[in-house]
Amino acid sequence: MAMAQWFLLLCIFFISASASNVQTKVTDNPADELVAVLNSNRTGNKLSSLYSNPGLACLALQYIKAYQGECSAVGGPDAKKPAESEFAETFAPDCDVKASSLAQITGRFLACQSKYAEPSEAFNDILIRNSKSLDILNSKNHTEVGAAVSGSDGGGPYFWCVLFSNGKPKSSFVTEGGEPKVTRPGCFSGANDQCNGANTLSRTIHLWPIALGSLVALLYAL
Ligand SMILES: *[C@@H]1O[C@H](CO)[C@@H](O)[C@H](O)[C@H]1NC(C)=O
Ligand SMILES: *[C@@H]1O[C@H](CO)[C@@H](O)[C@H](O)[C@H]1NC(C)=O
Repeated sequence: MAMAQWFLLLCIFFISASASNVQTKVTDNPADELVAVLNSNRTGNKLSSLYSNPGLACLALQYIKAYQGECSAVGGPDAKKPAESEFAETFAPDCDVKASSLAQITGRFLACQSKYAEPSEAFNDILIRNSKSLDILNSKNHTEVGAAVSGSDGGGPYFWCVLFSNGKPKSSFVTEGGEPKVTRPGCFSGANDQCNGANTLSRTIHLWPIALGSLVALLYAL
């Protein structure tokens, strides 16, 4: 009994100590940062900056959740992807996005790896890795973008998802209320929120540096 209490106290101490260490480092939402990096890359290449649509980004987070933390289902020989019908049947209702406002998805990136990556690193080293993904990034077909990042259960493996659409900004992927329904764990772009999920992500890194030794990155681009 006494030992269990000691253990609990130690845990609380350890977790709060790490949390306060990390708190100062995390200032923003990693999904918003990813969109900023992506848009500055596009404008650097004389392409339009894409509208950051929170409804689309919320769908990107649901897209990640459909993988249920199964990294091996992203890319590679066992690659799977959610059925297109999931957008209308599951993702949109989960986000409070009106099914009638869904627009065409003109491109998507999905990547997963065991180690958490900063948004610019995720963009340059994980998401954009070949000419196919560059073509998607630089496509003139997109008008808007939504990004999400999530670790399964707040820890690894970490998934990054970017969805592009040619919908009309402001009238596509709109919600019944105003803001899309926020679901945790995970962060999505466009909602002007500071994502607590980011704290969880960083804290996990802080606590488990050794678990991050092995690195698997898988990418699926369409
Ligand atoms: C855009 O990103 C790609 C992939 O990381 C990189 O090769 C390219 O130099 C970047 N371009 C600009 C203008 O930042
Ligand atoms: C842009 O859209 C056109 C017409 O739908 C399609 O043929 C083309 O492959 C798209 N380009 C990219 C880079 O996805």
